[in-house]
Amino acid sequence: MKPLENQIAIVTGASSGIGEATAFALAAAGAKVALAARRKDRLGNVKKRIEDIGGEALLIPTDISVRTQVEAMVAQTQKKWGGVDILVNNAGVMLLSFMDKLKVEEWERMVDLNLKGVLYGMAAVLPIMRAQKSGHIINISSDADRKVFPGSAVYSATKAAVTWLSEGLRFELALEKMPIRVTSISAGAVTTELAKHITDKDIFEVFRSHPPIEFMKAADVAEAVLFALTQPRHVDINNILVRPTQQAT
Ligand SMILES: NC(=O)c1ccc[n+]([C@@H]2O[C@H](COP(=O)([O-])OP(=O)(O)OC[C@H]3O[C@@H](n4cnc5c(N)ncnc54)[C@H](OP(=O)(O)O)[C@@H]3O)[C@@H](O)[C@H]2O)c1
Repeated sequence: MKPLENQIAIVTGASSGIGEATAFALAAAGAKVALAARRKDRLGNVKKRIEDIGGEALLIPTDISVRTQVEAMVAQTQKKWGGVDILVNNAGVMLLSFMDKLKVEEWERMVDLNLKGVLYGMAAVLPIMRAQKSGHIINISSDADRKVFPGSAVYSATKAAVTWLSEGLRFELALEKMPIRVTSISAGAVTTELAKHITDKDIFEVFRSHPPIEFMKAADVAEAVLFALTQPRHVDINNILVRPTQQAT
């Protein structure tokens, strides 16, 4: 029996990077996985990879920054498989920019996706998990939840919020003795498409000032997710800080 056999999972941002690696790892561990993101073609590739190893996946094109779409994503998963055991709130953008550039639309995109998207996901699954009296919400935060550098003010603010939201929800559920687990994963640098969306080219000067290091791979973060998910039910891994060995700060 695989460790996540019969578990029903939703992974947001499953079309690339950490979300793709996590969806694949969960499916390999036996879970049925709903794949949510905007790029349908990329989700189709992930679905095929999962089916090629004998897994089961559901493709749900979703803009996670739109509440009604997140609600529909969860409803579709529940209708197909009868419940939701795991939600991995992973979709996110890191649109680093210096504050004086006033890239207000990018600030809004980060707040709408990284913060409000996570809230929408939690709101949509909590009634189902409460009724089941089981479930696990994993929020992909960042080590930027505890640090800020020039250009990261808004991104760091959204990730600090994700980590504290996770802890706040966990605290309330624990007080109620409601057996729903909550985990935040604070990841350091991972090789993905994340930095490709940065439009403030001056930010790359900041990057260039850092000595090169070996980044983590998306699969390394997926391993951390799997670790949290495969603990006994009475153990809740609250937060994992995972960084590249060579990452100093
Ligand atoms: N890479 C790192 O160093 C690092 C470190 C710490 C934390 N993280 C966090 O890890 C998460 C995943 O990032 P990644 O590094 O794997 O980057 P990535 O490869 O760029 O993946 C981002 C994912 O988010 C999805 N996404 C973006 N906007 C969306 C929207 N409006 N609705 C639905 N999905 C949306 C993208 O899919 P579509 O474009 O197809 O919608 C994609 O699947 C993010 O929350 C990020 O903050 C990354």
